[in-house]
Amino acid sequence: MTAPSDSTPASEWWRTAVIYQIYPRSFADANGDGTGDLRGVISRLDHLQRLGIDALWLSPFYTSPMADAGYDVADYRSVDPQFGSLADADDLIAAAHQRRIRVIVDLVPNHTSDDHVWFREALASAPGSAARARYHFRDGRGPSGDQPPNSWQSVFGGSAWTRTQDPDGTPGQWYLHLFDSRQPDLDWSNPEVVEEFHDILRFWLDRGVDGFRVDVAHGLVKAEGLPEWDHGQELLEGATADGLRPPMWDQDGVHEIYRGWRRILDTYGDRILVAEAWVSPAERLAQYVRPDEMHQAFNFGFLCSGWRARPLREAITESLSANAAVGASSTWVLSNHDVIRHPTRLSIAPDGGLVNGIGPNDPQPDEEVGLRRGRAASLLMLALPGSAYLYQGEELGLPEHTTLPDEVRQDPSWFRHNGQVAGRDGCRVPIPWHSEAPAYGFSSTGRSWLPLPESYGRYAADRQVGVHGSTLELYREAIRIRRARRTATSTLAWTEGFDDTVVAFTLAEAGLLLVANLGADPVTLPHGVQVLLSSEQLDPQGRVPADVTVWCTISGAN
Ligand code: GLC
Repeated sequence: MTAPSDSTPASEWWRTAVIYQIYPRSFADANGDGTGDLRGVISRLDHLQRLGIDALWLSPFYTSPMADAGYDVADYRSVDPQFGSLADADDLIAAAHQRRIRVIVDLVPNHTSDDHVWFREALASAPGSAARARYHFRDGRGPSGDQPPNSWQSVFGGSAWTRTQDPDGTPGQWYLHLFDSRQPDLDWSNPEVVEEFHDILRFWLDRGVDGFRVDVAHGLVKAEGLPEWDHGQELLEGATADGLRPPMWDQDGVHEIYRGWRRILDTYGDRILVAEAWVSPAERLAQYVRPDEMHQAFNFGFLCSGWRARPLREAITESLSANAAVGASSTWVLSNHDVIRHPTRLSIAPDGGLVNGIGPNDPQPDEEVGLRRGRAASLLMLALPGSAYLYQGEELGLPEHTTLPDEVRQDPSWFRHNGQVAGRDGCRVPIPWHSEAPAYGFSSTGRSWLPLPESYGRYAADRQVGVHGSTLELYREAIRIRRARRTATSTLAWTEGFDDTVVAFTLAEAGLLLVANLGADPVTLPHGVQVLLSSEQLDPQGRVPADVTVWCTISGAN
């Protein structure tokens, strides 16, 4: 299978790319069973091509009992029948490549499913066996071993340990799971685990994929002896505020794993590794993208900056400088399948807090303010030097589904928190294609694994295609200009002279000035600039209203 060719040097394509995340179960359902599938993705590639993206990233589509929506993989080398077949995956890769769209797949190395053959074998084997040594099995504490081996907590709530039963039914050892109990953590100090993942990488590289998004990349190595950790639930943070590093996250040993992977990828040419690593500060995260490790890491510092000018400026500066120091490009992201969609998040939590879902009994967001801020934030992101990651539906301006009834929720985080937090289902709702069709065109039958909110009719793709000023056309135009002016490789310089509530910078080589107004008062643009693109109309005096971003040409540039 050939890789797509375009004007970007093949070895560097990721540095400037717009990469679109597809959450397969919610993108498009070709067979009408209510769950999205790979043939559905193929059927919508024209939409992605028209949008102008460079690559797509597919969340897991592998065989899985779906205890965590496919992030619990039972077989890394097969496609779950819900999503299709390996032949469909091959067809999708080929069809995307024909359109010059690269394909990144998700790799989940921190844990397997409890349905994985290795874990089943481990349960059927004795303590101390080689089969158990692929995971973290330990005896419990206390005289009868009925206390977990340590106090680590699951990211999804509750203890990070679950006790097993021996084949005769008596309580046995415990195993570690940083996420759901159906996601046992692998022991990466075991060479067999290392070898197996080398082989999985080659399996997909041989099928023609252009890279891997690496799930929980900062979690694979645990501190020797699994020491206690009493610093509460800051599990997804790289470090506490006082700089202590949790024993389950961001251990120095992870880097050796990625060096091994990089050596394999380099033999295949221009393929990439992208780290999902919740690590701070930016310098620490940049260690994952040193020249002999991964190519990129998601920029959660930017995502968590909220709708506040100063934290955004700081996150941008830190990211650009930390990445430049190791020769990597920066990435930017506002939404994904784990966080509240950014239009909703920026209206309800402008201070950058990562609320874990919104339910019908929670305060409801202001949809209009959200859309306005969402569009402004997207225009800001799409101008930044480096690559941008989009989440399916954000090009339509979709808000979070904030009133999902409890009985349809599926996120394990909702169950493990005993319904005390809504969880992530609200950002995973299928996306709308046709305003008049059943399930807004997600499936031909109107079936849908989660219900779409009524409001999604207004956001459907068919209502926005070719409509000047629609969010879809705004994204499309931004991506077009971004490519034409090579903003992604331009040099960012902060522009002085605006209020503290404004984010303003120039991109010299691109001949652009960006002004994002996060304050309450309208902002006057400098003389001699011409507005090229704007997230909303300017006011009658030609000023930039609150919650609006504009791209301007600097005089002299065309
Ligand atoms: C990552 C995924 C998330 C998943 C978790 C466990 O954070 O993005 O969806 O639940 O890892 O695999």
